Amino acid sequence: MCGIVGFIGKKEASPILIEGLSKLEYRGYDSAGIATMDNGNISVAKCKGRLANLENKLKEEPVKGNIGIGHTRWATHGEPSDINSHPHTNEVGTISVVHNGIIENYIQLREKLISKGYKFCSETDTEVIPHLIDYYFKGDLVEAVIKAVSRMEGSYAIGVISAKEPDKLIAVRKDSPLIVGVGDGEYFIASDVPAVLNHTRDVYYLNDNEFVVLKHDGVTILNEENEKIEKELSHVTWNADAAEKGGYEDFMLKEIHEQPKAIRDTMTSRIALGKEITLDKITLTKEQIEKIDKIYIVACGTAYHSGVVGKYVIEKLAKVSVELDIASEFRYREPLINENTLMIVVSQSGETADTMAALRLAKSQNARVIAVTNVVGSSVAREADDVFYTWAGPEIAVASTKAYITMLIAMYTIALFLAEKKGTLSKEEIENIKKDMLELPDKTEAVIKDKEEIQKYASRTYMHKDIFFLGRGLDYAVALEGSLKLKEISYIHSEAYAAGELKHGTIALIEKGTVVIALATQNNLFDKMLSNIKEVKTRGANVLAFALEGDKKIEGTVDKTFYLPNINPLLAPVLSVIPLQLFAYYVAVQKGCDVDKPRNLAKSVTVE
Ligand code: G6P
Repeated sequence: MCGIVGFIGKKEASPILIEGLSKLEYRGYDSAGIATMDNGNISVAKCKGRLANLENKLKEEPVKGNIGIGHTRWATHGEPSDINSHPHTNEVGTISVVHNGIIENYIQLREKLISKGYKFCSETDTEVIPHLIDYYFKGDLVEAVIKAVSRMEGSYAIGVISAKEPDKLIAVRKDSPLIVGVGDGEYFIASDVPAVLNHTRDVYYLNDNEFVVLKHDGVTILNEENEKIEKELSHVTWNADAAEKGGYEDFMLKEIHEQPKAIRDTMTSRIALGKEITLDKITLTKEQIEKIDKIYIVACGTAYHSGVVGKYVIEKLAKVSVELDIASEFRYREPLINENTLMIVVSQSGETADTMAALRLAKSQNARVIAVTNVVGSSVAREADDVFYTWAGPEIAVASTKAYITMLIAMYTIALFLAEKKGTLSKEEIENIKKDMLELPDKTEAVIKDKEEIQKYASRTYMHKDIFFLGRGLDYAVALEGSLKLKEISYIHSEAYAAGELKHGTIALIEKGTVVIALATQNNLFDKMLSNIKEVKTRGANVLAFALEGDKKIEGTVDKTFYLPNINPLLAPVLSVIPLQLFAYYVAVQKGCDVDKPRNLAKSVTVE
């Protein structure tokens, strides 16, 4: 849940490391630090708080050298503080390490090292690493790192430099992401591709337990036995600008505006009229699909909410029973899995620890696993049998928007794919849904154009302390996501309720002036929803409703209605979530919150 970078080349390392870290702040921003090496001496600069603090510090006390490592932290072991910031070093400052992940056996390692005379100064798990390398160093740095890593349990992507061998940077990963950038006479490591894109587009995606040694004359990749291995270099085709703000005030607003394109890209080559659904990285055959008797959709956070939609549509279209689980629950609840089980894991980052564990559990019990992820080469993508890549492009804001919407597209596409193979829908029915899906990019565009209406509403409601979201069926799924978005970035207490359930308890919280956002896009449930809206209106709620164009019946009942372009109600979540994202965004802006980096949250949660 941190970001690491590393550089070796002819240029000064410090500005390159800082620039790389700025692209990784979405992974954590409790503290930042770098270590560079010059003439065999390591200099460390690190401090609590945002990267800007470190930049100011470096202005006063620059560090020199053309080899270095850097870190942006999301605290797990030890509060955010200067001393707990990375890089960490051995006592004499000759080995410096940055680490993303958790060393689970760090207490045992620490005790062992203390008994050998080592002294610790931070509360972190990471600090054991430089000491362990020091302990195992017998004249060969690579061997010492391999030995130290073999003693470590947990997850890690680490970068190491050492005055003992000042010509190299060593890195390794297990269960935490790490890529290697290959430039012209300069080499990089990073937790994610955007950190190197200004310098190179050629990258190696490292697998677990692969070590990389970067030197001025090239890159060597080794296995745990210290044997050389060959890997294919990948060329990144997406633009570095895609990871910049591009004129918007925040990444979140930019990413909301990118949704029409993200939807279009995700459907491209998969959904075309008159053609079978093509999912190139899903190799499930008709026979295998017919044998599936249960599907689990497992995910966390926003990805889980896309699964709520997935459950509805897969059951409806493909007529197979779907269980939906939160990954951290699934992994510990002894779920019933066999070779006829299909698991769909959904993870924007592809690195969420609980989702990975759920995937591994299912695989160990012979289930077939499809990963839906936005990150090529991510851990879930590599370990699943099949992959559905959402083509949302890099998402930087912590609160997910465009990645979520493309997860919805993935759910519809997979549902149609299964329905097509199983024959649960006629060709005509499938064609009609595809036709409606192909209209989504233009219709989402139209919803975003109306953003000022939402902005006005947000400016009237941002001071409220509680906001409720209601919906039935697919509208309930969207209510969950709308409520989460609001909580995440505006810190307003909010709850999403299945509208029919409200009367069993939560309606007690509704009083004069309580803001209720009601979704009413599902025509088969419209009248029921109207009754539920009346229930809260009677108790004094102030109701904003979302309905499809033409459903004028709602107007007399609510305080304000926002109309969405008419669409097949099955696909309405793709449209109705957008005003809720915008609402959360504008409320947060009105409240002066840091929209892209909400407190206590991280984009990618690679720890349990
Ligand atoms: C974090 C993020 C959420 C995200 C969740 C799951 O909590 O802040 O936005 O939905 O992790 O992440 P994943 O990468 O697995 O989709």
